[in-house]
Amino acid sequence: MVACVTIGQLVLKEGAPVTSLRSRVIGLGSFLPPRVVTNDDLAQIMDTSDEWIVQRTGIKERRWVEGVTSTSDLAVEASRRALDSAGLTPEDLDMIFLATISPDHFFPGSGVFLQTKLGLAGIPAIDVRQQCTGFIYALSMADQYIRTGSARKILVVGAEVHSKGLDKSTNGRDITVLFGDGAGAVVLEAMEVNNPQLDSHLLSTHLYTDGAHAEDLWVPAVSTAYDEQIVDQRMLDRGDQYPKMNGRQVFVHAVKRMPEAVEIALEHNGYQIDDVDLFVFHQANLRINEAVAHRLGAPEEKVFNTIEKYANTTAATIPIGLDEAVKAGRLQPGMLVALAAFGGGFTWGSALLRW
Ligand code: UT7
Repeated sequence: MVACVTIGQLVLKEGAPVTSLRSRVIGLGSFLPPRVVTNDDLAQIMDTSDEWIVQRTGIKERRWVEGVTSTSDLAVEASRRALDSAGLTPEDLDMIFLATISPDHFFPGSGVFLQTKLGLAGIPAIDVRQQCTGFIYALSMADQYIRTGSARKILVVGAEVHSKGLDKSTNGRDITVLFGDGAGAVVLEAMEVNNPQLDSHLLSTHLYTDGAHAEDLWVPAVSTAYDEQIVDQRMLDRGDQYPKMNGRQVFVHAVKRMPEAVEIALEHNGYQIDDVDLFVFHQANLRINEAVAHRLGAPEEKVFNTIEKYANTTAATIPIGLDEAVKAGRLQPGMLVALAAFGGGFTWGSALLRW
């Protein structure tokens, strides 16, 4: 059974929206660790090849952190850049959302480490664990606080350090070649929307989950679901600490669910596919995004990809994509931008923004 939350519709069903307050992106930033790991580099440590990886996924290289760098270290760099671009200091923030599946520690959430590294104390720092859809979930949650007038400025971050959690032997090659490290962040500000057709704002988010597929893409341990210890030697011997994936299942569902989520967002807001100026999809596999664009009838030139350079950075992918699209001049004020993601859980969702 598919669970569905159509946030925008919930507001509309009740008649007038709670307020005319909407979220606007006023700051954007990303941070990629400097160490580049090419497909040829991976072929030195496992049985794979540049040809296989490029042909199946479109990935040419990814970034990996070095030394003690953690997820919150990447997050704080992206956050500072987003705050700088908004002309704000951390003290201006009311809340922080950090989406990640590669936290600094088992608990507390990495948002608290990010908060401290930003020199803050007191404001809520919330971790979101929705895998590749994490940023869209976090954006949606932040938007609810803004729509209700509960917060005026919110930092929403996606950050991942995958490289320390991958099986770098040939056993893990199906997954290890796909993932990279990185972080991206936006600052949202509450604003009154007078002209929904023109004013820059987040129009809607649509979120979905189907937990029946949880074990098609997951890290089994550390875990409270086994025996008495969250981790023991048997789990480590089995490699339960590494991600496991049913790649075909993920592929099949991703190419179906992302177009659905975009179509629902467009229908909900009264737009057609041709009205969209830019699509920023999650970056797991170039072939997935080509199939998604094809199903939607979206022209290639309107789809912005970063997968060649950064691979799959999970929750960080969409804000990194937005930042790169702005830097490349592909995303400009006034454009209608559609975001969609799909990932472990399975979770998926979309967001529509007037930039
Ligand atoms: O956000 C969600 C994250 N994940 C995804 O979106 C992944 C979705 N799935 C995919 O992108 C694709 O399923 C993959 C790219 C992961 C795999 O492509 P595939 O065409 O489904 O390949 P496969 O898993 O069927 O494997 C084909 C062959 C196998 O060898 P045999 O059994 O045919 O001899 C694999 O062992 O390719 C082999 N293989 C590799 N060979 C070289 C798997 N990984 C590698 C590798 N290098 N890295």
